[in-house]
Amino acid sequence: MSTVCYTQEGAVGVVTVDRPKALNALNSEVLDELRRTFEAIDLETVRCVVVTGAGEKSFVAGADIGEMSSLTRAEGEAFGKKGNDLFRMIETFPIPVIAAVNGYALGGGCELALCCDIRICSENAQFGQPEVGLGITPGFGGTQRLVRAVGPGRAKEMIYTARSIKAEDALRAGLVNAVYPLAELMPAAMKLAGNIAKNAPIAVRACKKAINEGTQLDMDSAVALEEKLFGSCFETEDQREGMQAFLEKRKVEGFKNR
Ligand code: CAA
Repeated sequence: MSTVCYTQEGAVGVVTVDRPKALNALNSEVLDELRRTFEAIDLETVRCVVVTGAGEKSFVAGADIGEMSSLTRAEGEAFGKKGNDLFRMIETFPIPVIAAVNGYALGGGCELALCCDIRICSENAQFGQPEVGLGITPGFGGTQRLVRAVGPGRAKEMIYTARSIKAEDALRAGLVNAVYPLAELMPAAMKLAGNIAKNAPIAVRACKKAINEGTQLDMDSAVALEEKLFGSCFETEDQREGMQAFLEKRKVEGFKNR
């Protein structure tokens, strides 16, 4: 692939948007390659994914403005659907996805970060939805996920003003969990991913499903969903080993995803 790079380190997959000349802007090719990359991730061995951008300046500087500039209404809608379908796939990917935001996360870049389970960023990161300054709305989920992440007041201010916010403000807003010096961002992301990856994979997946789907439901339905997923962990080898290890006062020998 020419615009997305994939590596695997132990149980952690690293997806890098690699189009630094355009600050990793998302054109159709990048969207297609991101989809193919996620589809090819080996869920037998990978237990957590980190998404980042190539270079030291930008995570993703948005959807490609050159490509969008001449779209018709129908093509604009189709481009939005292409991005939305991909980001929904990432959001519902069976294992956790961490965004390691290493610079600009604007427009589609902020939206890519938002569809991930957890966001951390570097000190030089900037988040924003500049679309109204270009004559469009956010189109890859920004009007929906930003409001859920930071609440309507802040989301509306960011979207209506098109102004970006810096890393520390993103931290205060709850848009990211932590801010690191740029050089420490990927080690921190890998450590976080490693901590997730060493836990029982069936349980981690069930937690993701319970949280993502449960927050869309009323509380009675949500706790019923949790009960089902809680129950589904029992009789697994990993549940037996996890509890046995505790009772025998020893470390887990390694979860098997069974
Ligand atoms: N699309 C296409 N190309 C982009 C791009 C984008 N979103 N962002 C940056 N680039 C390109 C620039 O055109 C430039 O290319 P050339 O060298 O060929 O001229 C290259 O990347 C470097 O960019 P700059 O020279 O502008 O770098 P800078 O450091 O001066 O500025 C920046 C950095 C502030 C991020 C600026 O590039 C910028 O404002 N980019 C656009 C950000 C934006 O508006 N994103 C939202 C897009 S709309 C969207 O995403 C819709 C949606 O919701 C799906």
